[in-house]
Amino acid sequence: MPADAVLHVAGARPNFPKAAPVIRALDRHGVRQRLVHTGQHYDDRMSEVFFRQLRLPEPDLNLGVGSGSHASQTAAVMTGLEELMVADRPALTVVYGDVNSALAAALVAAKLGIPVAHVEAGLRSFDRSMPEEINRVVVDHVSDLLFATSPDALAHLETEGIATEKVHLVGNPMIDTLLANLDRFDVAGIRAALALPERYVVATLHRPGNVDDAADAVGLVKAMHSVADHLPVVLPLHPRGRRHLENAGLLSHRAMRVIEPLGYLEFVSLVRGAAVVVTDSGGVQEETTMLGVPCLTLRPNTERPITITHGTNRLVTRSTLAEAVASTLATGRLAVRATPPLWDGAAGERIARIIAATLR
Ligand code: UD1
Ligand code: UDP
Repeated sequence: MPADAVLHVAGARPNFPKAAPVIRALDRHGVRQRLVHTGQHYDDRMSEVFFRQLRLPEPDLNLGVGSGSHASQTAAVMTGLEELMVADRPALTVVYGDVNSALAAALVAAKLGIPVAHVEAGLRSFDRSMPEEINRVVVDHVSDLLFATSPDALAHLETEGIATEKVHLVGNPMIDTLLANLDRFDVAGIRAALALPERYVVATLHRPGNVDDAADAVGLVKAMHSVADHLPVVLPLHPRGRRHLENAGLLSHRAMRVIEPLGYLEFVSLVRGAAVVVTDSGGVQEETTMLGVPCLTLRPNTERPITITHGTNRLVTRSTLAEAVASTLATGRLAVRATPPLWDGAAGERIARIIAATLR
């Protein structure tokens, strides 16, 4: 790796739509780049499909760490990256979001004295029972460049004592990817492919707090079935939740359609045509906000409150879910909406400009 290269570290599904516009914009600025895939996600539908559809460059290296406990997965990424970074010292390491791969890369780079840039800095759920919250806090505190997607993030970083000159409000690169692909989302095509009626609900579920406890999954399945009593539900299911939710009887409702995770284009097409989305995903809260699709988030909190204040998102519980779906269907989509500041498709370019200037 050339010594002046920027090293991007990505490894899990939500990293890929965030990295794509940053890599493309840095290319336009003539910055030399390398991409390491940690292998945290490895199924075709959790990884390679994004590379094909978003025209991401082939990773220069795949560490192939795979699944494991938090410590073993994080440690495997750290060991693999340390070897690489010692041998080929990058000028800057760029990490994305709040996944274990980002935590591991940030720690290794910081200890080697290699500057770290964090894309999606400053988000806080203030819920330390989420592994992602721990990752966010640690990554932000060892980062040298912090790229924030929303103004609330700036306030959190300031409260935590992070120097304001390191922090830049740049907009949302995941939304760059959404806007860049608007012409490729084929609502009629996905509706026909899945034989869906005009009105349907899309759901995604994968948070440990929702799917990790086998006994608790029964309550979640009951809540999802109560949604399916209103409208057909299509659920592209993350591998994490599959066993517990299926054992809890998820498939037993005739209007519940559980499918494999979808490619990015198919998934966003499905969401764009949905009457309501039920989710615990971070990215999906943002995508529905931009698309104007009502979103009900099955979580006690969100690190993305801007999707509530400027978007279509509402927090719900298992007991309020069915009623929230019914009232959302009655209201329909709102015609006029304000989108969050700088969610305009140019976040990647803003990030690239700052990185290029820093490297000079
Ligand atoms: C990770 C992130 C989470 C993010 C999610 C996005 C952490 C701590 N969590 O959670 O923030 O929202 O990705 O999807 O980094 N598995 C497969 N195939 C794969 C990948 C995973 O079958 O390609 C299964 C394995 O059984 C694995 C489980 O999913 O144990 C969980 O994978 P892991 O990467 O540990 O965490 P996620 O739940 O995917
Ligand atoms: N996504 C996808 N196929 C699916 C489910 C999600 O392409 O079946 C995309 C979604 O559009 C978003 C990203 O994956 O861009 C979000 O990833 P995920 O929900 O796994 O992670 P989170 O955002 O919760 O960390």
